[in-house]
Amino acid sequence: MAFSLTTVVLLAIPALAQTQQPLYSTYNFNPLEHLAGIAPYFEPSDPPRDPAPPQGCEVTKAAYLVRHAAINANDFDYESYLGPFAEKLENSTVDWSKIPSLAFLDTWEPPTIKEEERVTRTGKLEAGQLGVQISYRYPTLRLPKRVWASSAERTTVSAQGLIRGLEMEDNTIDLVVIDEGKEGGADSLTPYSSCPAYSSSAGSKQSSTYVKKYTAPILARLRTLAPHFNWTSSDVVGMQEWCGYDTVTRGSSPFCSTSLFRPDEWLQFEYAQDIQYHYNTGYGNDVSGAIGLPWLNATLNLLDSPLENDDQDLFISFTHRELPPTVLVAMGLFNNSEHSGANNVNATMPLDRINYHRQWVSSYILPFLTNIAIEKMNCSASYGYENVTDPTFYRVMVNQSPQTLPTCFDGPLESCSADGMAGFLKERTAMLGGYSEKCGVDYDNSTDVLSIYSRNLTGKAVGR
Ligand SMILES: *[C@@H]1O[C@H](CO)[C@@H](O)[C@H](O)[C@H]1NC(C)=O
Ligand SMILES: *[C@@H]1O[C@H](CO)[C@@H](O)[C@H](O)[C@H]1NC(C)=O
Ligand SMILES: *[C@@H]1O[C@H](CO)[C@@H](O)[C@H](O)[C@H]1NC(C)=O
Ligand SMILES: *[C@@H]1O[C@H](CO)[C@@H](O)[C@H](O)[C@H]1NC(C)=O
Ligand SMILES: *[C@@H]1O[C@H](CO)[C@@H](O)[C@H](O)[C@H]1NC(C)=O
Ligand SMILES: *[C@@H]1O[C@H](CO)[C@@H](O)[C@H](O)[C@H]1NC(C)=O
Ligand SMILES: *[C@@H]1O[C@H](CO)[C@@H](O)[C@H](O)[C@H]1NC(C)=O
Ligand SMILES: *[C@@H]1O[C@H](CO)[C@@H](O)[C@H](O)[C@H]1NC(C)=O
Ligand SMILES: *[C@@H]1O[C@H](CO)[C@@H](O)[C@H](O)[C@H]1NC(C)=O
Repeated sequence: MAFSLTTVVLLAIPALAQTQQPLYSTYNFNPLEHLAGIAPYFEPSDPPRDPAPPQGCEVTKAAYLVRHAAINANDFDYESYLGPFAEKLENSTVDWSKIPSLAFLDTWEPPTIKEEERVTRTGKLEAGQLGVQISYRYPTLRLPKRVWASSAERTTVSAQGLIRGLEMEDNTIDLVVIDEGKEGGADSLTPYSSCPAYSSSAGSKQSSTYVKKYTAPILARLRTLAPHFNWTSSDVVGMQEWCGYDTVTRGSSPFCSTSLFRPDEWLQFEYAQDIQYHYNTGYGNDVSGAIGLPWLNATLNLLDSPLENDDQDLFISFTHRELPPTVLVAMGLFNNSEHSGANNVNATMPLDRINYHRQWVSSYILPFLTNIAIEKMNCSASYGYENVTDPTFYRVMVNQSPQTLPTCFDGPLESCSADGMAGFLKERTAMLGGYSEKCGVDYDNSTDVLSIYSRNLTGKAVGR
């Protein structure tokens, strides 16, 4: 029996080895996944749940809300950080070639771009790729007849990119453009811009408190390296932002180096951004949920209506970075206070150190091309649910990672039943409804309802 004992021992060793500490360090870090609103599209698997529908469920309809794809630069970022740093560098007489860790500044030039807010090549390609990915994800759903986009160039160009990736023949999918006016009430894909209570600068004050703190040691280091540059904390933010914009316009950037900024310093940049978005479009802004709710309500109504009433199964809409986070708040997702037994949400984002275990991580919530999906599923073949009277369940995904709603998870893999969803929507509406009132609208034709999907709006075909 010595033979079988040896076998047992040999078999046991690999199994044991898997549970041991690795002998060599496996730490690696990618700054591009921590750039918040400037992060190139990625799927962080947060949480790492299977994007495929639960066993025995098939998706019968789906709606997507998508942020536009990568752009050259956001106007605000350009004017506040990117431009001033580039100009200061251009004017500077420092001989960078003599400073090893900053030598790249001797030859680096900002990318030549015609206009800041245009979608980059990478962005167009990634939008097309998302179209292909969606077609693979739902092989049995009909291709949409219409895709919606708010009227800015970067949102319509992104939608066109997606359409080109999605359609098999030219000119089969129309693009419906929705005006981004300031008096549209909730009836647009940019309801924050017609909400007077929303301010695009909300969160700057809180964020700058933390920026000042995290950039201080970095500035001390840079001042030692290049005393004549007159470094400011805006230069640090500018360089960290260049990492993202440089990458999406020309494929890589010397600013992304982890010897220029250490991994922890990228996490600090990310946290400063998270503070900003927390107070801007997140749980730290009392109006966020009211801004996001109309899309949730309209979309759930759209998905709920029987298939035969619709001429399409897939509803895809393009907007800007502000709307997706407010929709997440409307659904109660990425809420730092969940399971905390309290609702002291601002305390979860301290301004003097990082809350590493926060759920509100903007790189996961609003990178370029970020997308929130709500899927309607028929789970009549799912074990344990095969006998229910209504086999309809809903599932939310953020960048392809399934999420569990805070008060509705009675379906397969914590999806939400049709009845449960009706109750959930009622509960969220009671809590967050009343767009016009909460926004304090000052024009008299406002509306609390998003009706772009139910009105028969016409669009234009998108060719090659
Ligand atoms: C760069 O130099 C120009 C011309 O001297 C000056 O007008 C500009 O303010 C300088 N910019 C910065 C950021 O120092
Ligand atoms: C209110 O009127 C303005 C000006 O005519 C228009 O742009 C806007 O779309 C209207 N809002 C709604 C909700 O119909
Ligand atoms: C250094 O930068 C600060 C802040 O931008 C500015 O006020 C100051 O004039 C600059 N000093 C020099 C010597 O350029
Ligand atoms: C969080 O802070 C914001 C801005 O100061 C404030 O308007 C909001 O009411 C606070 N939220 C809570 C739950 O305390
Ligand atoms: C966030 O979570 C807390 C704790 O569960 C809850 O009281 C609060 O209502 C939630 N906020 C939103 C907007 O859902
Ligand atoms: C769900 O799928 C089953 C099996 O294909 C089918 O019989 C049933 O009609 C479907 N129900 C709905 C609501 O789509
Ligand atoms: C569903 O119904 C079938 C047939 O009546 C039965 O055999 C099965 O146990 C039921 N399943 C559940 C989970 O109740
Ligand atoms: C929700 O959508 C339905 C259908 O479009 C609409 O009748 C209702 O007024 C909306 N409710 C809210 C609170 O937006
Ligand atoms: C929607 O508009 C198109 C084009 O204007 C028209 O052909 C179609 O009949 C309309 N559909 C409905 C349901 O009104």
